[in-house]
Amino acid sequence: MVLSFSWVLMGMLESSLKGFRNKEHGSFPFIASMYIDSHCHITCDQLYDRIDEVIAHAQEQNVDQMLIMCLNREELERALKLKEQYPDRFKIAFGWFCGDARDVTEEDLDYLRQVCSQGKLDVLGEIGLDYYWDKSFNDIQKDLFIKQIEIANEFSLPISIHMRDASRDTLDILKEHAKTKIIFHCFSGSLEIMKEALKMNSLISFAGPVTYKNNKTGPENIKACPLDRILSETDAPYLAPVPKRGKENEPAFVRYTAEKIAELKEIPVQDCLEQIEKNYQSIFES
Ligand code: NI
Repeated sequence: MVLSFSWVLMGMLESSLKGFRNKEHGSFPFIASMYIDSHCHITCDQLYDRIDEVIAHAQEQNVDQMLIMCLNREELERALKLKEQYPDRFKIAFGWFCGDARDVTEEDLDYLRQVCSQGKLDVLGEIGLDYYWDKSFNDIQKDLFIKQIEIANEFSLPISIHMRDASRDTLDILKEHAKTKIIFHCFSGSLEIMKEALKMNSLISFAGPVTYKNNKTGPENIKACPLDRILSETDAPYLAPVPKRGKENEPAFVRYTAEKIAELKEIPVQDCLEQIEKNYQSIFES
């Protein structure tokens, strides 16, 4: 208890040093850590309207790497432009979302294949299954999910998985079809499901809800998840972490989730960030 409190203090000290570094100095030799947002929708209309501010905030908070999630052609076009401007900072993911499965046509799948073949994507997704809102088209969702996994296999692209109230079907389909690295985005399943997910070639990504006071499963999962399998994300503009809960989320806020992970793992924030960075880089090496 005392130990973890001192780690929190160290985290706070590091954070204030980082702020100092950003304002006053180019570099601070013994603090090299950066935050990584492995899942953010910064090209959705909501955040793209103030994109310069969103990027500036991220920079101020040392969020140096972001994986931009795109759910439609327009979001992808915007992301490609951003990556052209800042090639070292952004990676791009695109895929047809399960909630939109009824509207996805053969032509849309051809478009996905085309952007994959042009080398425009770093990750395919987010794809998956969501039975929370509407269970009336589960089979259509499954069909689209499998087709997109097969496209990812064809182009050797990692996949980002959205899984809500559909853990059993999602894991069964992945076991049968997935051949590339899997990122379980905004993981909120049970401990048992996480253990099963960890048996695959996968990373488990945690988002803002793990900082919520009434969330018991998230912290339990973090404690049980090997550090070399963990990622931090915002899923911005949704799910802002405490103390920004209720606000529009943005990549700058990923630090609260990363610091929560360090606190739960009882390790210095710096060590946690370094490992998350290695985990993140591993996505693009496979
Ligand atoms: Ni998302």
